[in-house]
Amino acid sequence: MLQHKGTVTIETIRLILRKFERTDANDMFHNWASDPEVCKYLSWGPHKDISASKKRIKYILQSYSYPDTYQWAIVLKNRKHVIGSISVEIKNTLDSSCEIGYCIGREFWNQGIMTEALRAVMHYLFYEIGYQKIVAKHDLLNPASGRVMQKAGMKFTEIIEKVGIRRDGSSYDCAVYTKYKDED
Ligand SMILES: CC(C)(COP(=O)(O)OP(=O)(O)OC[C@H]1O[C@@H](n2cnc3c(N)ncnc32)[C@H](O)[C@@H]1OP(=O)(O)O)[C@@H](O)C(=O)NCCC(=O)NCCS
Repeated sequence: MLQHKGTVTIETIRLILRKFERTDANDMFHNWASDPEVCKYLSWGPHKDISASKKRIKYILQSYSYPDTYQWAIVLKNRKHVIGSISVEIKNTLDSSCEIGYCIGREFWNQGIMTEALRAVMHYLFYEIGYQKIVAKHDLLNPASGRVMQKAGMKFTEIIEKVGIRRDGSSYDCAVYTKYKDED
């Protein structure tokens, strides 16, 4: 049984994961959402101007009125500004499963930040909310994302071929990773 508590603040060694705030639009735009390289394998973006980031934040803030919204801003403690996001993208109450998505600005890649965020979020979703299964997927051309899933303890499950169309028109295959609650 799921006990929704929403996007509560989570602290890790280097990070604060918290709800987005209206004033985060500038960080969102400059730190990650305007960068085509960050958005290369994502279903959205890049944002062309700050109004797109403001619109996105407005939508996120509205979504917080639902207690089953899990959408965190990732704040580096020593920099104080928002460098990315991690969220539950898809929820399935029938089997208490959910799918997580994430991104951070290029300047912050390869420092173990997303692995730290994903581990903390998975722990919260399993042990505070009651999810039994957490899934994440990545484009096969984006192995860094798969590496994050592996380092966070998820297991490779399957490859789904031709699952969607990238913005450049090419079709892509994705790798699926899964972690079950209390699984080693
Ligand atoms: C994918 C992403 C979230 C990773 O975040 P991160 O904070 O850099 O991740 P971590 O530092 O925790 O781990 C990255 C791992 O990928 C590895 N890696 C980086 N580039 C790689 C590549 N081209 N091939 C294989 N592994 C790669 C790193 O070496 C590291 O593994 P290691 O610790 O074993 O050395 C980040 O690059 C990002 O936001 N990308 C754009 C958005 C995106 O693709 N989101 C995921 C959509 S599914």
